[in-house]
Amino acid sequence: MPNNDKSLKARLLREAKRSLRNSYSPYSRIKVGSALMTTNGRIYSGCNVENASYGGTICAERTAVCSAVANGAVGNNKKIRAILIVTNQQKIWPPCGLCRQVLAEFSTPQTRVYCMNASGQTLETTFAEIFPNAFDQTKFTRTRRV
Ligand code: THU
Repeated sequence: MPNNDKSLKARLLREAKRSLRNSYSPYSRIKVGSALMTTNGRIYSGCNVENASYGGTICAERTAVCSAVANGAVGNNKKIRAILIVTNQQKIWPPCGLCRQVLAEFSTPQTRVYCMNASGQTLETTFAEIFPNAFDQTKFTRTRRV
């Protein structure tokens, strides 16, 4: 693994772990933290936020994406360079289907995806690999950019 890849992963891990500690998960007791780096080099993180009405739960990945959007850091030409997800579980958790669809809006096929379990074992992959042929804005013949 090239050195800059290693330091990217280390920086994302630090931020994702910081967010994981804020996980609001009284129902599942599962803690998830996520951190992403944009193509401009900015980092945003998030944790899972559960709700008494279970369907209202928001995953850590989507919290991080919404934070990046809210801060103007991702959008039309600003994408996610890499995202890391860490859990307090023994199995490695890849992003759920809903998160993949949301990530598709702001990722590229080359976006790095790191999924880490509680012991630090990591699945390192790309967005194209976990979500091929995504339904995204490239499928629109006329996209209104706002
Ligand atoms: N969760 C995430 O934060 N990310 C995923 O990709 C999968 C699931 C959270 C949602 C819920 O709080 C808990 O993990 C159990 O599903």
